[in-house]
Amino acid sequence: MNNNNKIKYIRKNAVSKLTGSSILLEEAQKEVDILLEFVTGISKKDFIISPDREIKDNQIEKLINLINKRIKDKIPVQYLINKAYFMGDEYFVDNRVLIPRPESEFLVLEAINIYSDNFYSKRINIIDIGTGSGCIICALAKHITSSDSISFYAADISQDALDVAKFNAQNLKLNNKIEFIQSDLFFNIDKKFNIIVSNPPYIPIKEKSELQAEIARHEPQQALFAQDEEGISVYAELIKQSKVKLRHCGYLLLEIGTGQSRLIKDLINKNNLKLIKIIKDLNNIDRVVIAQNLL
Ligand SMILES: C[S@@+](CC[C@H](N)C(=O)[O-])C[C@H]1O[C@@H](n2cnc3c(N)ncnc32)[C@H](O)[C@@H]1O
Repeated sequence: MNNNNKIKYIRKNAVSKLTGSSILLEEAQKEVDILLEFVTGISKKDFIISPDREIKDNQIEKLINLINKRIKDKIPVQYLINKAYFMGDEYFVDNRVLIPRPESEFLVLEAINIYSDNFYSKRINIIDIGTGSGCIICALAKHITSSDSISFYAADISQDALDVAKFNAQNLKLNNKIEFIQSDLFFNIDKKFNIIVSNPPYIPIKEKSELQAEIARHEPQQALFAQDEEGISVYAELIKQSKVKLRHCGYLLLEIGTGQSRLIKDLINKNNLKLIKIIKDLNNIDRVVIAQNLL
């Protein structure tokens, strides 16, 4: 080993390789840190504190291979290492499931508030429609504390996604709490629910060519795209079915795409649900819509 094995040099070189392939500096630094942690097992905190620490040749080789793959095939870093984080927990991810996004944590936090304010220690049913990696339902099953009285369900049209979600639930020791169901929206589901949450596909298909290659090429098409002009076709059917599947006074919480809140409000009114509130994300964009079944 020599000076070139010091973490500070490896990190600097890797970042400049990524920025050279037109990845923004801040993003490149984040990605390199994730990959460095992965190949060395050294935490980011430790290599920032000890930048002169040396890493092994085979770890450098592994890092270079991953960076090359990242650049050449535009594979998202989370798929390269098969890991993503959501509400502080680690989830297995691969191209069968959407990579959990931080915005979806708002949906989880709102659902927890609704539970605490309205259903605390009551026997209720909660379902996540389009569960993907299972991040939303797992976070709910973990953080809703009196969960003995709650039945958690998760549905997805994709059996591949459900396999990943079950694996994640097992890893988080939540598999006994959640029932997974393969279903096109509520088609295979008889029960009614007090809380329905969903982050359905909402990118208009016509925007596919404008999307980053990392997303458009690697994340599952069924998780990303709605087939209509405005990206609301799945919401339209989901809201209609939710009206039937919500118990009296039950809540529907939806994550929505940028610029969709007016259209979603219209769908909520049309289906005789009451709009309760709209939550903005950190970029001040309407992100979560909450409605209630009062009739
Ligand atoms: C945007 S992803 C969300 C995944 C995960 N809930 C999350 O927030 O990371 C949408 C998910 O909905 C599923 N999906 C798409 N159409 C569906 C349908 N008609 N019925 C049930 N699930 C559907 C996709 O397979 C995908 O897993």
